[in-house]
Amino acid sequence: MIHESTDHDSLYRQVCQKVEGLIRGGTWRPGDRIPSVRQASRQHGVSITTVLQAYLALEDQGLIEARPKSGFFVRPQLLKPVAEPKVSRPRSAVTAVTVGGLQSRLFEASRIPGIVPLGGAAPGAELLPVEKLNRILAGVARRHGRSAVSYDVPPGSAALRREIARRSVDAGANLAPDEIITTSGGTEALMLALRAVTRPGDVVAVELPAYFGVLHALEVLQLKVVGIPMHPRTGMDLDVLEKVLKTRSVAACVAVPNFSNPLGSLMPDSHKERLVELLAAREVPLIEDDIFGELYFGDHRPRTALSYDRKGLVILCSSFSKTLAPGYRVGWIVPGRFYKEIQALKLTSTLATATLPELAVAEFLANGGYDHYLRSIRRTYADNVGRFRQAVAASFPGPVTITQPQGGFVLWVELPKGVDALRLDDAALEQKISIAPGPMFSPKPDFGNFIRLSCAHPWNARMERAIGTLGRLAAQQPRTA
Ligand SMILES: Cc1ncc(COP(=O)(O)O)c(C=O)c1O
Repeated sequence: MIHESTDHDSLYRQVCQKVEGLIRGGTWRPGDRIPSVRQASRQHGVSITTVLQAYLALEDQGLIEARPKSGFFVRPQLLKPVAEPKVSRPRSAVTAVTVGGLQSRLFEASRIPGIVPLGGAAPGAELLPVEKLNRILAGVARRHGRSAVSYDVPPGSAALRREIARRSVDAGANLAPDEIITTSGGTEALMLALRAVTRPGDVVAVELPAYFGVLHALEVLQLKVVGIPMHPRTGMDLDVLEKVLKTRSVAACVAVPNFSNPLGSLMPDSHKERLVELLAAREVPLIEDDIFGELYFGDHRPRTALSYDRKGLVILCSSFSKTLAPGYRVGWIVPGRFYKEIQALKLTSTLATATLPELAVAEFLANGGYDHYLRSIRRTYADNVGRFRQAVAASFPGPVTITQPQGGFVLWVELPKGVDALRLDDAALEQKISIAPGPMFSPKPDFGNFIRLSCAHPWNARMERAIGTLGRLAAQQPRTA
């Protein structure tokens, strides 16, 4: 029986997980009839609507099918479970970074009219609450009049910082508004954090594969990288990090504990605590990027590593780019003990965050139904990730491994050895499909047979065709054993 007190969203997901477990585990086999909606509602102690929603989601994932007047059945050609990639083994010891070129290429591709956008990790505008945001923006501009066109100097909008502080409680951090500085997106937050705690030539510990924006920032700031292996489910290998910290001087560590990019890994709380302690023992700042933290598929918002910080050594960076409006460029930083330096650096970086978008986001958070929107978009991304995973497994030449993220909206796909992701990217662009090739996620070319796919656009026949085309293009490449 599923516990009654949990909300509808998590109940529905629990039913999905139970049914999927019974199918994947072989209790219910292809072709078997599964309990009717009414029976399942009794068995799990949940409403008929909840079961129906779960069954429809499982149908979307291709696990079960509805047969008219007969009920729901396990699909006869159930896909074999898809393996996940192994722990990453980044090649680099300490190395300089060269990723800028590949990043520009990805952004250029995103401007090609009609491109199928599987490369960039920006949410599709069709999935964002555009009309509501527009209304709020107009209302805020009217209400604030002249102050809406004036500078809002750091630390930035008090209303926005209040809303961010309020939400930090869910992530275990209990921040006060005056611990926060607003920024022009997560990118500025990361850049400010790195500039505050490093000098050119310093070594920074980074999860590998890593978000290419961080690698690019390290390149521009002339920093060196020591790569830490990543487990596809639990993130950074902390034993390796500990060894690195014992043997060399590290100026900072950058991590995305909640739904890393590109792996989608979620660090368990005990690992977050250990990460913070390991670094604090050596006075090494942790730059925590929590940009995907609100996009969890489970039943609660994961904590931030910041919530374990006792020394002001964790600098949290985030933004509303993945959840509301990437083009508004509204983000924030929690600088901890580096508050003064970061506030001063912000003046030299963008002087102030754009006032009107800040006010609009603050109003959306206060009165726009942000939580309601988030509940629905989490479901959409969870479903999309399942469908993309299934389509990739069905269309690509084997053996492929694919991550199974518990949040966010990106998939990391390992293609057979010998398939060259950069060549696949060239061929895909000719077909007007954009992907993010694996070498973008490493300081020096590595992950040559990996690609990252973004699932942040509505799933439809066009997406399905694009995955089929990518699979065909990958199959045309020579392979090694
Ligand atoms: C992990 C991660 N951090 C930061 C950013 C940058 O965010 P923003 O668009 O708010 O600058 C991105 C964008 O893709 C990202 O994936």
